[in-house]
Amino acid sequence: MNQSLNKLLSTFNHILDQSIEQTPLHTQLEESMRYSLQAGGKRVRPLLLLATLHMLQPNKYHEGLKTAVALEMVHTYSLIHDDLPAMDNDDLRRGKPTNHKVYGEWLAILAGDALLTKAFEYISNDASLSAEVRVKLITALSQASGHQGMVGGQALDMQSESQAVELPILEQIHLHKTGALIRFAIEAAIIIANVDNETQQQLIKFANHLGIIFQIKDDLLDLFGTTEALGKQTGSDDANEKSTYATLLGYTQAEHILATHVEEAERILASLSEAYNTDDLAYLLKLFYQRQN
Ligand code: IPE
Ligand code: IPE
Ligand code: MG
Ligand code: MG
Ligand code: MG
Repeated sequence: MNQSLNKLLSTFNHILDQSIEQTPLHTQLEESMRYSLQAGGKRVRPLLLLATLHMLQPNKYHEGLKTAVALEMVHTYSLIHDDLPAMDNDDLRRGKPTNHKVYGEWLAILAGDALLTKAFEYISNDASLSAEVRVKLITALSQASGHQGMVGGQALDMQSESQAVELPILEQIHLHKTGALIRFAIEAAIIIANVDNETQQQLIKFANHLGIIFQIKDDLLDLFGTTEALGKQTGSDDANEKSTYATLLGYTQAEHILATHVEEAERILASLSEAYNTDDLAYLLKLFYQRQN
């Protein structure tokens, strides 16, 4: 990680660590929320939000910190539920036993519910932003998370198990189950910063490529990565008969489509670099397609 992203990451982690307060109501529920939140994910969504904001408005990235925490809460809840026996039925996540393996299913479901709702409370209470900006962020995060976003994509993903779907459907699955929260990272930076329309459109296109890139790579790592590096069990997609680019088109074609999206994303960054310092976004793009975990 470069120096600038490292700084964003350590500031973010500091705020995240304090995000779930201890109350006397249900200690184990709070422990279970913290367990998954602090298990050590890559934090690519918060980093993308903060790096984009830093690019658009240098030195004002702190205005995005609480939204970045909210986004990581929604993402973490999506992983807890994704791992449940009724969904992907996985035992390992972020190098640790999955939430339901440690706390049991009902607490894992409730920890997910609580992280999702906490995310919106967290943005509502962010005193560093105007009320108008907070409402816009909450609207965008609700859309990205719900039936038109991540949850809708997860429903399509589950429905498509054990059958060969058409490529456009697979693209819709990736764009929603994974793309929606990645796109929100960039939308949030746009909402917080002042950005002209042309730049907004370029950034959203960039975000859509990133979402597809991230999930194709995730699918390839499930096939060819190692459990040690990934911190999650490989071969899960095969066990669940998931539809992925690799199963549908073969490994070579999946790699080819991945490379095409990377080229498109690089082209967008090149044009943005006339007005902005795109180094951090270029670094993150590389991380998205070269990562081994
Ligand atoms: C995993 O996301 C789920 C997908 C959308 C592919 P990440 O690979 O970002 O998981 P963490 O946050 O690093 O654990
Ligand atoms: C999950 O996709 C996407 C979400 C959790 C929204 P996957 O099911 O492929 O993610 P992993 O491989 O379990 O991390
Ligand atoms: Mg899944
Ligand atoms: Mg899964
Ligand atoms: Mg996967």
